[in-house]
Formats: sequence, C-alpha cells, structure tokens
Amino acid sequence: MTYLSPLGYLLGIEGAALLRGVREGSADQAFVEARIAEIRALLDTPALAHAEGVTASPGTISAADVYQAWAPHYDAPGNQMIDIEEPVLRRILDGLPVGTALDAACGTGRHTTYLHELGHHVIGFDSSPEMLAQARKRLPDVDFHEADLHRLPLPDNAVDTVVCALALTHVPELAPVLAEFARVLRPGGNLVISDAHLLVSYLRPTLARRPGPDGRPCLLAEYHRPLSAYLAAALPLGFQVRHCEEPRRPHHSLDPDTAPDPLPTHVSWDLLHWCPEASAAALDDSPIVVIWHFQLDGTRKG
Ligand SMILES: C[S@@+](CC[C@H](N)C(=O)[O-])C[C@H]1O[C@@H](n2cnc3c(N)ncnc32)[C@H](O)[C@@H]1O
Repeated sequence: MTYLSPLGYLLGIEGAALLRGVREGSADQAFVEARIAEIRALLDTPALAHAEGVTASPGTISAADVYQAWAPHYDAPGNQMIDIEEPVLRRILDGLPVGTALDAACGTGRHTTYLHELGHHVIGFDSSPEMLAQARKRLPDVDFHEADLHRLPLPDNAVDTVVCALALTHVPELAPVLAEFARVLRPGGNLVISDAHLLVSYLRPTLARRPGPDGRPCLLAEYHRPLSAYLAAALPLGFQVRHCEEPRRPHHSLDPDTAPDPLPTHVSWDLLHWCPEASAAALDDSPIVVIWHFQLDGTRKG
C-alpha cells in the first residue's frame, strides 16, 4: 500500500533539491535557508495540511486500462519524455540498414511512422486495441497486430530491427521479453530500446488514478530499473552494446508562467508550482529516459 499525500510529495521535492544541491555543490547558504523557510511555509499552509491523500496499491489498475483511456490523447503535444526521447532514438534509427523492422509495443505508431518513412517494411505490435486503432488511422497501409511482448507472433529470424520504446517499464522481467526480441531478430540485427529512467520513479512517481475501475484509487505497477538490469538481460542473449544514452530534462523544465493557484487538493504534478525553485533544483538536468542500441551477435544463431 502506498499513501500519497500532496504535502508529503512537496516535502520530498524539497528534500531532493537539498540533497542534490549539496551533492552537486549548488546549494549555498541562501538556497538551503530558502528551502527550510519554504518547508515551514508549506507545513503552515492550511490547504495543504487538509489536502486529500490517497492510499493505493501498485497493480490495482492494468496497463490495458490506462492505455484504453489515454489512447485518444497520447499523441497530444507536451509529453516531455517523448520530446526528449524522440530525437535521440531517431538519430540511432537513421544509422541502421533499411530492412524489415518491428515496432514492439508500437502504441499509436509514433516510431512505426518514422521507420516507414525511412523505407523499412514495418510491422507494429501492441497489446492495446485502442492504441492500435490510433496507429491504424495514422498508417492505414501498415500491418498492426494485437500481441503481447512476451509472445510475438513472428517466426524466428524474421526481422532486421526491433524498436521497443517506452514500454518495458510495464513488464516485470526484462529477460523473457529480450529473449523474444533475440528470437525474432536475424543474426546481426539491431535492437533499439527506450525506457523511463530509474530516477523518474523517485522524482516523479506514478500518481494514483481516481477512481480506478473498481471505484477506488488505484496505481499502475511500473518497473524502473538500473542500467545493469538491461545488461544482465541482454548480454547473455548475444546482444552487444552499440550505444547507451541518458538524455536529461532541460533547465527550467517547469513552465515559469504556470500560476500556483488554485492548489490541487490531490497529488498532482501541478503541485510542483508551489515550490518552483525546489522543483527546478530537483528535476532540471536529471536523466528522464535511457536509450539503448544493442546489436545481436552475427554468429550466435544458426
Ligand atoms: C508509453 S506507450 C509507448 C508507445 C510507443 N512505443 C511510443 O513510444 O510512442 C507504452 C505501450 O506499451 C504497450 N504495452 C504495455 N505492455 C505491453 C505488453 N506486455 N505487450 C505489448 N504491448 C504492451 C501499451 O499498450 C502502450 O501502447
């Protein structure tokens, strides 16, 4: 069970700002005293003291339910993670030989579209019918199929490239999914992965959805992992690392024009505007995604 409290979240951001400032040498006396004064002010804000907290357990809403609701808005502008991930991932795709490409957990077809434009023969798989419906609208001539990452409906050695973007956070174990990617890739094939960075889970944890399918607050289970976990899963399968990048949030990632009023009465990212200096110190220039380019050993398969 996780108890999410708006005040608790803001105090956590203040704490992260202090710890990071000390670690990086940017926390001078004025900054530290400002944080302490702001913590006092937050504690004394009646609206925050009485704001509603919620108790929820991770796994009480499924990814299927989340994406069913999100599908119509997923491609709306303003998703910072996508804005930061996309150019890095595209740069890797630009350097790959054109062939047959699988966009695994393709969602609304964001990277499928780019692979198609590069001239690949593309196939898109996703477990969400609602996300696939958006992808089919975008690319009516492309093959999109409902499938789970653990059981890809493709023969062995079927594709030259696998892209799996921002989806592994939903799978509890990396090894079986990467084994599926290795199975469908031809020897020497390329695997390009992006995933939410481990730090995201500390600085912007998943918010409860209210009400969930059962009418109570619920939390999506997400799996954020250290970089060693990707290596531990990929290297025994014959993947070799070609590139790894951890792009960061820009400075001033918090829109300074967003006014703090009204105070959300529940845990929300809008709360960050109640402590913009601390939020910037905690969040700015912190890694938001990890992007991997692996290549399958050219001699490992028969
Ligand atoms: C954040 S979206 C990313 C979509 C797309 N790759 C992109 O980067 O825009 C995550 C996608 O993973 C899909 N997904 C989650 N778990 C899955 C699974 N086990 N098998 C297949 N797709 C899955 C979801 O349905 C969703 O479309």
